[in-house]
Amino acid sequence: MIALNNVFFSRQDGTLKRTIINDLSLNIMAAEQIALLGDSGSGKTTLLNLLAGLLSPEAGEITVNEQKISAFNARELALYRRKIGIIFQHYQLLSPLNVKDNMCFQARLNGLSPSDDEIQKMATKLGLEGKLSAMPEQLSGGEQQRVGIGRALLNKPKLLLADEPTGNLDAARSQDIVALLKTLCQEQQIILIMVTHSQRLADQFGYQLFLKDGQING
Ligand SMILES: Nc1ncnc2c1ncn2[C@@H]1O[C@H](COP(=O)(O)OP(=O)(O)OP(=O)(O)O)[C@@H](O)[C@H]1O
Ligand SMILES: [Mg+2]
Repeated sequence: MIALNNVFFSRQDGTLKRTIINDLSLNIMAAEQIALLGDSGSGKTTLLNLLAGLLSPEAGEITVNEQKISAFNARELALYRRKIGIIFQHYQLLSPLNVKDNMCFQARLNGLSPSDDEIQKMATKLGLEGKLSAMPEQLSGGEQQRVGIGRALLNKPKLLLADEPTGNLDAARSQDIVALLKTLCQEQQIILIMVTHSQRLADQFGYQLFLKDGQING
């Protein structure tokens, strides 16, 4: 589970200090699926980055699966980050690597070596069977995003953070990707937090959190 207690984070804006996350407290139970909504600039990506250990809070505590990550040093944070699943709007596949190697990339970085059987099964779930030796540039946007999902899931995370994963896809493809993400996370008991600007996509989630003025209204 995830707990945020009185978390603050601000950015320097010229000479002004602007508070982005303002005394935010939040509890998320294991295997929950959450849509994170909020205006552009409201701090959604900042919040994901705090949960991913890419940013550290100025004050307050962040605990993820019993680990108090807000107290981690740089080395502990680097280790923690490897185990988190992150999916981006821009898929960030590695262009010299084929689909299979892209899918295994994060897991291998983390010392895991997915078996051929495991890779094949994941590819089938993602509708990417027959595409494992293709290069990223030969894939559609939706296919590339599914490779990104495979890359995150083969690493067996307990927490998957998705930042507008369907931002570059049409409405029908977006629905498919979100349904797939939800099913796979449910199967593997992974907490899923997905940022979206689409109320229609958010409506498919059991929980919706709205970020406004640095606070959550859920
Ligand atoms: N590296 C940075 N340096 C300074 N300010 C930043 C930086 N990154 C983000 N900000 C500011 O922090 C605020 C929150 O940004 P954030 O990216 O978290 O918003 P968001 O809710 O994800 O927006 P969007 O929906 O447009 O992606 C914004 O006002 C932004 O300008
Ligand atoms: Mg953002």
